[in-house]
Amino acid sequence: MGGLQDGEAGAGGAANVDELSAAFERLYGRVPDGVWAAPGRVNIIGEHTDYNEGLVLPIAIDRRALAAVAARDDGMVRVASRQRQGDPVVRELSDLGPGRVRGWAAYPLGVAWSLADRHGVSQGADILIDSNVPLGAGLSSSAALEAAVGLALADVAGRDIPRDALALACQRAENEVVGAPTGVMDQMASLLGRAGSALFLDCRSLQTEQVPFDLDAAGLALLVIDTRASHDLADGEYGDRRAACEEAARRIGVPALRDATLESVQNLSEPLRRRARHVVTEIDRVQHAVRLLRRGDVAGLGPLLTASHASLRDDFEVSIPELDVAAATAVEAGALGARMVGGGFGGSVLALVPAGDVDAVTAAVEAAYELRGWASPLPFVVTPAEGARRLR
Ligand code: GLA
Repeated sequence: MGGLQDGEAGAGGAANVDELSAAFERLYGRVPDGVWAAPGRVNIIGEHTDYNEGLVLPIAIDRRALAAVAARDDGMVRVASRQRQGDPVVRELSDLGPGRVRGWAAYPLGVAWSLADRHGVSQGADILIDSNVPLGAGLSSSAALEAAVGLALADVAGRDIPRDALALACQRAENEVVGAPTGVMDQMASLLGRAGSALFLDCRSLQTEQVPFDLDAAGLALLVIDTRASHDLADGEYGDRRAACEEAARRIGVPALRDATLESVQNLSEPLRRRARHVVTEIDRVQHAVRLLRRGDVAGLGPLLTASHASLRDDFEVSIPELDVAAATAVEAGALGARMVGGGFGGSVLALVPAGDVDAVTAAVEAAYELRGWASPLPFVVTPAEGARRLR
C-alpha cells in the first residue's frame, strides 16, 4: 500500500502526490483539478459511545487517503482506486442512491450521492484514490476515503460546506449507501482532527474542543498493533450492539444511553445491563481523559485505556483473543495502558508506551503471537496529524 507523503511525515510505501497525479493522467487522459487528503483516525477513548449520542476522544493519524479529482459537467462520476484492480466504476449521478452501488465504490459514490441529495452539490467528476490507511485495521480507512472525496467534490463545485455538515454527509453515505450503521466519530475525526491535538467531540451536539496532546513532551508514543484479524462493520455484530443500546435506552426511558446513569442501568436484564454499563462507564472515562489532557497529564491516560479494554471485553463483548493478548502483553512489557480500538471483532490495539520501550513492547507482542501460532501482528507508531485538506 502506498505511503502518501507531501513533505510531511507519513508512513508506508512510495506513492506520493506527483505519482497519483501522473497515474490519474494515464488513467483518464487529463490532469486532475487538484489533490485532496484525509487521514484515518485512532480513537484514544470513547468506544461505542458515538451512536449513543455520547462523548469520544479520537485523533487524526499520519496515515491518509488521497483523492485526485477533476470535475465533469456531464453528470457522470468515474472512480478508481490504486488499491483495487480493474477499470473505473462509472455511474450517472442521477442513478446513485441507497441500494444502487456495491463494493468499495459505494463509499465514494455514496458521498457523491449524499452531497447532491442533502447539499445540492451535483458534481460529476473523475476520481482516483490512493491510501496508506490499512484496510480492516479499525483505523477508519473508509472515513478517510469518504472525507477526501467529500471535500474534493465540494471544493471543485465551489461550495464551502462546514466540516461537521460534511462529516454528516459522509456518515450518511456509509449508513445508507454502504449499509453500515456507524456513528459520526470517524468522519468528524478525519475532517476536524488537528496535529498535536485530540478531538473532544460531543456526538449529540457535534460540539468540539481541540485538547492539547503532546506525546513528545511526555516522552510517550502511541503504538498501534494491527492484529490483522479481520472484521467487517457491515456484519451483524456491530448492528446488534447498536440495537441493544437503543433497546436499553428505551427500557430506561431516556432518548439515548448518553442520558443513562449507572443506577438507571441496574434494573435492565442481561445482556442489556452490561452493554449499557459499558456505555455509561466509557463516557465517564472520556471525561476523565479530557480532564487529564487539559492539565498535560498524558501518562495518566494509561489506566483508563486498560479499563476501557476490560469494559469492551467483558461488558460490551466486542473483543477477540488476538486483541486481548495484544493488549495484555503490551501492558506486561511496559505499556502504561492498552486497549482495542474501533468497532471490535478484529482490527487494532492501541498502546500508550514510553518512547524508549516501543521496540520491547513490539517484540513481546510478536513473541506472544508466535507462541500461539497466529499470523504476525503489524505494529506501527502513530502521531496526531492534521485533518482533511486540499494539497494542490
Ligand atoms: C466504528 C464506527 C464508529 C464507532 C466505532 C466504535 O469505528 O465507524 O462510528 O461506532 O466503531 O466506537
